[in-house]
Amino acid sequence: MTRAYGKLILLGEHAVVYGKPAIAVPLGAVYVDVDAEANTAGSGITVSAPNWAQPNLPLAEISNMPAITKPIELALRHLDIETSPDVNLHIRSTIPIASGFGSGAALASALIQSMIDFLGQSISKDALNHLVYEVEKIHHGTPSGIDNSVIVYEQPIYFVRDQILQPFSVGRDFHLLVAHVGHATPTYETVSDVRKLYEAKPERIGLILDHIGQIVEDARALLERGEHNGLGAMMNQNHEWLRQLTVSDESLDHLCQVARENGAWGAKLSGGGRGGNLIALISPEQIGQCESALRDAGATQVLHTTIKAQPPTD
Ligand code: PMV
Repeated sequence: MTRAYGKLILLGEHAVVYGKPAIAVPLGAVYVDVDAEANTAGSGITVSAPNWAQPNLPLAEISNMPAITKPIELALRHLDIETSPDVNLHIRSTIPIASGFGSGAALASALIQSMIDFLGQSISKDALNHLVYEVEKIHHGTPSGIDNSVIVYEQPIYFVRDQILQPFSVGRDFHLLVAHVGHATPTYETVSDVRKLYEAKPERIGLILDHIGQIVEDARALLERGEHNGLGAMMNQNHEWLRQLTVSDESLDHLCQVARENGAWGAKLSGGGRGGNLIALISPEQIGQCESALRDAGATQVLHTTIKAQPPTD
């Protein structure tokens, strides 16, 4: 079985579109699993998923689902294999689509890795990341590359668009609650509204983007040192700048406040904004109280995830 986890933006969304750094982290609470099982000889590649009316569908019958067919094709091409193997790929996903959790990249990563494992071959993380990025292009045109990188390396990523993509390790485990406010706005809408704001007031908005960029720089240093208490204040500041970019809304502001009043060191929206998810930095002892307070205040889903420190390699 091959598993790929989701991703979350920790800090720096929106400003990252303007060349500022952002940090994204793996989201272990949601994942895609793919089981590759040998098919009877001559049946070729088939795909199954729990909610499909029919199991074992041949690739030709799902040609309208490039999110599934493209990763499989890319895996075969990577291995220079022209004759399809006889294999059924059984997909199970707990990642909601269009949630900002990287469902497309996780599906692609799990499919490619499971095909390669089934064929007894191996692939480097760099090569896998490249292939998953190719699949991301079908979903997002010119994607930033952050989703595929976090998902493939399963590590926090410090990221500057078209420039830097650095996996890094945190000095100490930390815990996040991820709460959905019950409604969402497509990311392209909020991105386009921030663009209009920037064009109308380039100096004022430019300063906000600079502030967010500085928070991300400072936060990376804290994270690497394992000083997570300071991170909470930075998340709060980042949320305040996002509010000024008009991408928060009443429910995000309210639930962030509820999280802070119930033990979170900091909270902010995560991703495109105006709905979707907020994240709260929390101590393990406060998780229960904060989670129930968020639910009572209207959160429709609350996930808990731990960002793990890497064990020392020596
Ligand atoms: O909704 P998500 O998690 O994919 O995040 C969108 C992040 C933005 O910075 C708002 C847009 C982007 O392309 O980086």
